[in-house]
Amino acid sequence: MEPRPTREPRPRETLDPPPSDGPPPSGEPPPSDRPPPSDEPRPSDDGGGLPACRYRDLPTRHAGQDDWAITLLDTIYRLPSDFVPDHLVSTARAGLQAGYEIRPEVVDDLRAMAQAAEADGAPIAVRWAYRSYGEQAGAFAYWERVRGRAAALRISARPGHSEHQLGTAIDFRSADSLKPPWGYEDWGTTPAGRWMARESWRYGFILSFPRGMEEETCYAYEPWHFRYMGRDLASRIHESGVSIRRYLWEHFHSASSD
Ligand code: DAL
Ligand code: ZN
Repeated sequence: MEPRPTREPRPRETLDPPPSDGPPPSGEPPPSDRPPPSDEPRPSDDGGGLPACRYRDLPTRHAGQDDWAITLLDTIYRLPSDFVPDHLVSTARAGLQAGYEIRPEVVDDLRAMAQAAEADGAPIAVRWAYRSYGEQAGAFAYWERVRGRAAALRISARPGHSEHQLGTAIDFRSADSLKPPWGYEDWGTTPAGRWMARESWRYGFILSFPRGMEEETCYAYEPWHFRYMGRDLASRIHESGVSIRRYLWEHFHSASSD
């Protein structure tokens, strides 16, 4: 029998977030999660082997508790529904507000990053961190209800497919406003958003869904959603200039990465 994961209680007053992160849908045409008609060519995988964006439910290759930095999650690959990090702790451990949970491996660098952002006049706060499979199902269902399925697929991961289930993804907001980051025209142009885009990699955090990389990440631009990769891997991804999705695919997931 597996030991039960340890969880810190979530304070009641912090149960404020809406059921999902995600911006209003952008003006671009939504994708379909159905295969194209047979007389249209299928989107092809690129030369490097990164699969074209499509919607599947394949088990991700590295889903162990210690694999959190190399677990590829996208619209194709997913975690098991019963995957829960063995340990989760409050974001208060990093000197930020309580009410959200992260893996303990994230704490020290999150604290250092938050302190540096504040010292530079761009204080950050957490808008959402760990989400269980069930919470992600609720988030996706919410967006599907209010925006329709095609838009929901661009802004929210289907349950099992979200980096939030790993306990290492965090949605940030500006500390000087309770406004959610998706309530801005572009949170990435605020002092906190600009600071995070420029400096987060030094503390091990990488923006998962950058602007202009939608065809590679398979999601709309999300300037607030960062995934903790650890400092070494984050440096390498930052230097590579590619998305987390492509980097993990090429180095850890594809058959040629063996
Ligand atoms: N908004 C991102 C894609 C998620 O739901 O994980
Ligand atoms: Zn997010």
